[in-house]
Amino acid sequence: MQQTNKLNGQLNNYLGEYTDNHSLPSPFYTNPDVFSMEMATVFQQRWFYAACVADIPEAGSYYSFNLYNNSVFIIKDDDGKIRAFHNTCCHRGSKLCDEGTGDLAKIVCPYHQWTYELDGRLLYAPKMGADFDPSKYRLTEIALENVGGLIFICFSDNPPDSIQEVKKIISPYLDVYKIENTKVAAQSDLVEHTNWKLVMENNRECDHCNSNHPELMVPLYDAGFGAGLDDVNSNVCDSNDEFVQLYQTKRKEWEELNLKYEPIDFPNDLWLRVARLPLAHNAVSHTTDGKLGCQKLLAPFKKPETSSLSLWTHPNSWHHFMCDHIVTFKVMPLANNQTLVRTKWLVDKDAEEGKDYDLKHLMNCWIQTNDQDRRLVERNYQGICSNAYKPGPYSPGEMFVDNFVSWYVRQIKDLNT
Ligand code: FES
Ligand SMILES: [Fe+2]
Repeated sequence: MQQTNKLNGQLNNYLGEYTDNHSLPSPFYTNPDVFSMEMATVFQQRWFYAACVADIPEAGSYYSFNLYNNSVFIIKDDDGKIRAFHNTCCHRGSKLCDEGTGDLAKIVCPYHQWTYELDGRLLYAPKMGADFDPSKYRLTEIALENVGGLIFICFSDNPPDSIQEVKKIISPYLDVYKIENTKVAAQSDLVEHTNWKLVMENNRECDHCNSNHPELMVPLYDAGFGAGLDDVNSNVCDSNDEFVQLYQTKRKEWEELNLKYEPIDFPNDLWLRVARLPLAHNAVSHTTDGKLGCQKLLAPFKKPETSSLSLWTHPNSWHHFMCDHIVTFKVMPLANNQTLVRTKWLVDKDAEEGKDYDLKHLMNCWIQTNDQDRRLVERNYQGICSNAYKPGPYSPGEMFVDNFVSWYVRQIKDLNT
């Protein structure tokens, strides 16, 4: 926390320069000390999205990743219980698992072969002598919650209770998709030369979509995607509008299919938004031709269906569920000016590449869209680095950008006092 303390005087000045409904003052994007403070607060004391159950399909499957100076691995034990551990050995601290995914019968440290059970208990430590008691050692566990197949973790010993409410709200929307019956068909990693909050801000609005995302606009309306559905639900929109008409028709279909659709927009300071939205032009999936990306449909569907369910969470994720595949996005801050965006495409676990899906067709819509977004957020960062940058006002369509930024400011204030 030394960095945080070093920043404290300045942080109050930076926060004093923040105006509601405006982008943040530049040090929040450009100052490395602010970044260190965030890693010790928002990404230490708050829940964030880490993985999904498809990353760890079997007993002994693990998924390991780095966040700043912490390496984490998430692993499933023989009873199917999922745990997260700090990836550091109890002997002399060596990293245990390599980054990525793999399968283990036991967790064996590559340095001196201390050997752990999948639940983190130390079983065996060679050359430690007859008096050594392995039961006194155990890997350091990290708080973890499985929310409808999406795995959130929190590094704090006292993680916020909000996860229980988030779980109660999200699970009924997600459970029907049975993510445990999917597999990771593909993954893409993009390292973007920008601050992580600009990636999140860009994701929280679709005012930029029509002019920047030709592929994404094949299956999507920009209405409802970036801004809320309040106007549609309260019927204040023009009822001749194609999207509004379709939304009203689709609600009846969703009821018949028992698909939850009530929109939820970051209620009571909670860090989630859910929306089920009709797809445009009779598209049945997020593909560049609007056709199925995978011929094997996901659990709740007997035939192709023209909607997608989207979930957005602060501080670092968003997810889209179609009738044939799921796309999950995780934002991992690397430095004040560098951010990893990891995208995964999930399909039914029995689907066969080449027969049920073609990877290029499955991925292309979001490969193109992610790269277009990368260019936008990199330009945004370059402009913010200018001496002339001043925080500017948000449009009504940027209401969820404001929601993210004001949520962030509240966490920073709470966690630095
Ligand atoms: S550091 Fe792991 S066994 Fe020595
Ligand atoms: Fe975008």
